[in-house]
Amino acid sequence: MAASYVKRWLSVEDKVFLVTGGAAGVGAGIVRALLHENARHVAFLDIADREGSALESELITKYGALKAKFIKCDISDDGQLAAAYRQVLDKYRRLDGVINNAAVLTVDERNIKRMVDVNFTATVSSTMKALEIMGVHKGGGGGTIINISSLLALNLGSHLPVYAATKTAVLQFSIAMGAEEAYSESKVRVITVCLGPTDTAILNRSNLDNFDKDQPIASRVDVRQKVESAVSGILKVLEEGKSGSTWIVKNDQIAYDYTETLNKAFSVLSDT
Ligand SMILES: NC(=O)c1ccc[n+]([C@@H]2O[C@H](COP(=O)([O-])OP(=O)(O)OC[C@H]3O[C@@H](n4cnc5c(N)ncnc54)[C@H](O)[C@@H]3O)[C@@H](O)[C@H]2O)c1
Repeated sequence: MAASYVKRWLSVEDKVFLVTGGAAGVGAGIVRALLHENARHVAFLDIADREGSALESELITKYGALKAKFIKCDISDDGQLAAAYRQVLDKYRRLDGVINNAAVLTVDERNIKRMVDVNFTATVSSTMKALEIMGVHKGGGGGTIINISSLLALNLGSHLPVYAATKTAVLQFSIAMGAEEAYSESKVRVITVCLGPTDTAILNRSNLDNFDKDQPIASRVDVRQKVESAVSGILKVLEEGKSGSTWIVKNDQIAYDYTETLNKAFSVLSDT
């Protein structure tokens, strides 16, 4: 029987990464895992000062001062985002991978614009900045961008309409940015990961108190995968994912490539 062969696009070892929303939840898991896999350096951006500083101290104690850097940054503020990228470049003179992971989930109508700004607009801005730095066509050395979406991007449902729409937008944007024509020019893979429900603070009822008093999201989401499962899946995608591909990481299962199914669905939708 022929041995199965998986193309490894990237080894984490000795690479420089930037992770948004890296102070807590899945993002913090990604930061820890990258360092565990011998990344040269991981910079993580977050608004959560206390959690970010605590994680930075933990990682510096474990891996050394040059390995991890917490940068307090509201990614929806373009000036702050640009400064954070500059800080990483000034120090390390290179960037190999970006994980656009930060997001907010709220049903407070006063915060709807913020949800769009953080989940979608800032993901677009960060992707463009990363391409500007890593793109071979811009003088960079190539690299990888992973944009975190959600299973909600693939399901038609009436709950969480704005959040789901931002995640659908992230999916469509990332597929386009990772398409073959774009990749052949930039040599930067752009890949989407759709996460299933995962046991982090984003699902806390306190976020969602006004959502549906009779059936809060906590009771709808009966299966939540562990953060470690989400993180292992994202690392597998980082190593193996083709540019423009879409992966699903859910139910504590191994990450799987959903691109073909999605392409079939899109071809049905395009047949108008
Ligand atoms: N947990 C789930 O069930 C689930 C399911 C599907 C997709 N996702 C996606 O996974 C990703 C990670 O979410 P999580 O579950 O770890 O949530 P989380 O709330 O635990 O972590 C999100 C992090 O982003 C940070 N953040 C929020 N706004 C920011 C801003 N403006 N600038 C910088 N940082 C900011 C938060 O402070 C927090 O540390 C998100 O993109 C989310 O949409 C999560």
